[in-house]
Amino acid sequence: MSTNFNLPNAENFEHTLNGKNTHLLTLRNRAGMQIALTDYGARLVSALVPDKNGNLVDVVLGFDTIANYLNAQECYHGATIGRFANRVQNGKFVLDGQEYTLPQNNGNNCLHGGPDGFHTKVWDRQVSFRKQISFYYVSPDNEAGFPGEIKVSVNYELTDDNEILINYRATASKRTVINMTNHAYFNLNGEGNGDILNHCVKINCSKFIEINDQQVPTGKLQSVLDTPLDFREETRIADQISKDHSQIKYASGFDHSYVNSNALSQPAASAYSQQTGIELRIYTDYPTLHFYSGNFLSDDEGKSGKKYLRNGGFCFEAQHYLDGPNQSEFPLFVIEPGKEYNFNIKYKFCMRK
Ligand code: BGC
Repeated sequence: MSTNFNLPNAENFEHTLNGKNTHLLTLRNRAGMQIALTDYGARLVSALVPDKNGNLVDVVLGFDTIANYLNAQECYHGATIGRFANRVQNGKFVLDGQEYTLPQNNGNNCLHGGPDGFHTKVWDRQVSFRKQISFYYVSPDNEAGFPGEIKVSVNYELTDDNEILINYRATASKRTVINMTNHAYFNLNGEGNGDILNHCVKINCSKFIEINDQQVPTGKLQSVLDTPLDFREETRIADQISKDHSQIKYASGFDHSYVNSNALSQPAASAYSQQTGIELRIYTDYPTLHFYSGNFLSDDEGKSGKKYLRNGGFCFEAQHYLDGPNQSEFPLFVIEPGKEYNFNIKYKFCMRK
């Protein structure tokens, strides 16, 4: 199997941050696929996947040194997001009659747990049988304004069927909100290899969460019918993103959550590149799937030395309902002490000849 892409050099990830050491960890399966992860943000750094010609293509955007992760404009590349993915409106919410205030790092909103979210932490780690890597973090009570101490783990497994299984677990000392996801940007043409607008996307969901011009939910679930958000048939992103529609305008592209009623055994969505023949399918037991077309990417120079421009990657972020703590119409996920948070994301790579 030949490759133009390599995993980053592990030495470039050896660093000390707030007294903890960072590393690059790698997994390889029997089909030749390889992934790299780092304990800085419990994040996915690379995924080398065989293409239709048997070459390995790195389909994950990211950097080849820890310094570049620390200095990047886009700080969420490949990271574990927490405590609460996406925007909490006005950085405030009420739970059990008490108001909590979060840092505002996106206009008035708190995005992805605030500026010191899980993506900035150096997680503890454990490698099992060269197939799995688990990351652990204890988030103290009131960290970034959120109630309760929570103990979280994120387990990554690479299977011989070219699947990355991610399992999120947490327990809490108090009733609290949690919403963890993965923020990998994918480009199935290869990272740094142009934009993803020629990818064909299929989303097996018929409703989406309508947003306003501040990119927070209006509280309404809308049908995808007769909107550019309808990806129930496989469609090129370019054909939909160019349509004149307020939802696309508000987000400068796709940055929308779909209501996911697919079981973990059925794909919630897929994306396909004709260029490489690589298809990515996402399976999840989270109730929503967020499709983000990398509208705000700009300027960071990635692993292959090429700039990650607007739409240079897309994310499939499976998660709980957007702004759940403030949206009385949406189901709110709350974890109780003594109960376990346990959700899964599977990214499966297939090849079409
Ligand atoms: C959000 C975008 C945001 C991006 C940050 C995505 O999950 O939906 O609105 O700009 O993360 O990089």
